[in-house]
Amino acid sequence: MLAQSSSFATLKPHLSGLDMAALRAEFEANAEFIAIPEFLSTHDIAPLLDALPALESRVHRNFIPGHKKGGSISRYDLDAHAPSFPDFYRSPALQGFLQTLCGRPLLQCPADDPHTYALYYYTEAGDHIGWHYDTSYYKGARYTVLLGLEDRSSCRLEYELYRDDPKRATVSGATALSPGMLVVFNGDKLWHRVTPSAAGERRVVLTLEYVTTLGMHPLRRFVSNMKDAIAYFGFRQVFSGAKRS
Ligand SMILES: [Fe+2]
Repeated sequence: MLAQSSSFATLKPHLSGLDMAALRAEFEANAEFIAIPEFLSTHDIAPLLDALPALESRVHRNFIPGHKKGGSISRYDLDAHAPSFPDFYRSPALQGFLQTLCGRPLLQCPADDPHTYALYYYTEAGDHIGWHYDTSYYKGARYTVLLGLEDRSSCRLEYELYRDDPKRATVSGATALSPGMLVVFNGDKLWHRVTPSAAGERRVVLTLEYVTTLGMHPLRRFVSNMKDAIAYFGFRQVFSGAKRS
């Protein structure tokens, strides 16, 4: 464990040097959304980048007409084949940074949540996801963290702030997710999509999920698993993954 944790030894000094008051103020002003370009260097995330080539054959392709097309790798495959990803997710320095940013304690998702950490691949023409919220299936809030790993694409994360606030005008924005860039948002608050990739483009993003309570009604767990099976990882991964890992 010590050897794995040392993979991200540069995180702590780097994150402790950030102006957290300013970042937290921006996050709050944006209704719990922030995009931080060059959050980490390629040196900081080298253990993640180095693991990517061996994962290529494990990408699960999915297609939901009118809503989504792309590839994904669930936490079960990352647990089994790329320990640097769960290591990164559990990094105390990263979790401490996120808790300060969000202004509340954050919990790691349970072992049977395939979305705890996952990879999204946009590698074919037209890969995209339509407008949606990252709905929390837990009883508390769900925070989504996106980290750019590879981006040779024209894809943009498009979003609308304050969409559900009747007192404020909606503000639209868009950003690429270049390597090392971090995006954090409250999944129930940010209406967002990713625009389609063109032929020959490639985009790989790491997603992390943290929550404020671990409680989840069994029916909502079932709905969440069905969504993950159909839209992301496949039935084999979702319904047998937790038992295998
Ligand atoms: Fe999303």
